[in-house]
Amino acid sequence: MMKAMEDQVVQEEPGYQDDEESFFQDIDLLQKHGIEPGFLTAFEYSEKRKMVFHISTGSQEFDKLLGGGIESMAITEAFGEFRTGKTQLSHTLCVTAQLPGPSGYTGGKTIFIDTENTFRPDRLRDIADRFNVDHEAVLDNVLYARAYTSEHQMELLDYVAAKFHEEAGIFKLLVQDFCMLTVLRISVPVFFHYIYLPSMITMQIIDSIMALFRVDFSGRGELAERQQKLAQMLSRLQKISEEYNVAVFVTNQMTADPGATMTFQADPKKPIGGHILAHASTTRISLRKGRGELRIAKIYDSPEMPENEATFAITAGGIGDAKE
Ligand code: GTP
Ligand code: MG
Repeated sequence: MMKAMEDQVVQEEPGYQDDEESFFQDIDLLQKHGIEPGFLTAFEYSEKRKMVFHISTGSQEFDKLLGGGIESMAITEAFGEFRTGKTQLSHTLCVTAQLPGPSGYTGGKTIFIDTENTFRPDRLRDIADRFNVDHEAVLDNVLYARAYTSEHQMELLDYVAAKFHEEAGIFKLLVQDFCMLTVLRISVPVFFHYIYLPSMITMQIIDSIMALFRVDFSGRGELAERQQKLAQMLSRLQKISEEYNVAVFVTNQMTADPGATMTFQADPKKPIGGHILAHASTTRISLRKGRGELRIAKIYDSPEMPENEATFAITAGGIGDAKE
């Protein structure tokens, strides 16, 4: 029954045209700085994809499962029952995002939106110790906000978008200066202007994406409205990740699937958010409990990774490998 309703919501294609416009209110300014909305050639797009980086989960096994870690220019969703490590992973990413990684990644800041009041700076200190990084520096590089309602959560994202936009302007100017300096010696290809910002902020976490929506739109009749609001939020997150080369990581909860008993599914629980969240998330990871500190991550949906599993551990120093 619930599933049928959500299907209906998807078909209706919630109209979020107005918000799209307000998100890009300064489109002229963007164009002045070299960001042209619209088509890229496949070659230009592949050049853009070269900027993609991965942020380590803290576990090599888990990273391998994800093709290197949490990917930029994408939304990664981790869902699972309580105590499966979603918040611990979120904390670990705040630290690992600051560490240099492969293919030229130099590390960056994280924006953390907390909807459940479970963010603990002390955990960041423990995790920083494991990676031998300075406490103060680590804490300084995480911008934290507590969201109290789904509307507030949206406002915080507007603020984030504005902040990226601001940084984008500054960076574009630098790029253009650079072009002028080099133009005499080499021809600067057009796609150079599409350069995605090695923004100071490289990671955006929401722990968890659905909790407040669940509270604010708890009535049955409110499902359509909830999904429409959710679609607006995810559209913003997608733009942030793709335009500014940010790794977006969201956690999600699970619910019993009322249709499961009819279809004899092995696991009668499913992530909430319906088709809207399923489509918006580039990679979906399901987390489940193993023995003691052990947890199992499984690729639930990914454009390029097979449906494998990885075992990791929740340690004092955050997410780590099972044998550590
Ligand atoms: P919900 O938000 O309730 O849905 O759960 P979650 O998936 O976010 O779980 P969370 O990430 O909070 O994981 C909780 C688990 O991490 C528990 O099993 C804790 O025992 C474990 N944990 C938390 N802190 C530490 C720690 O400092 N050391 C170790 N070894 N485990 C910890
Ligand atoms: Mg949690």
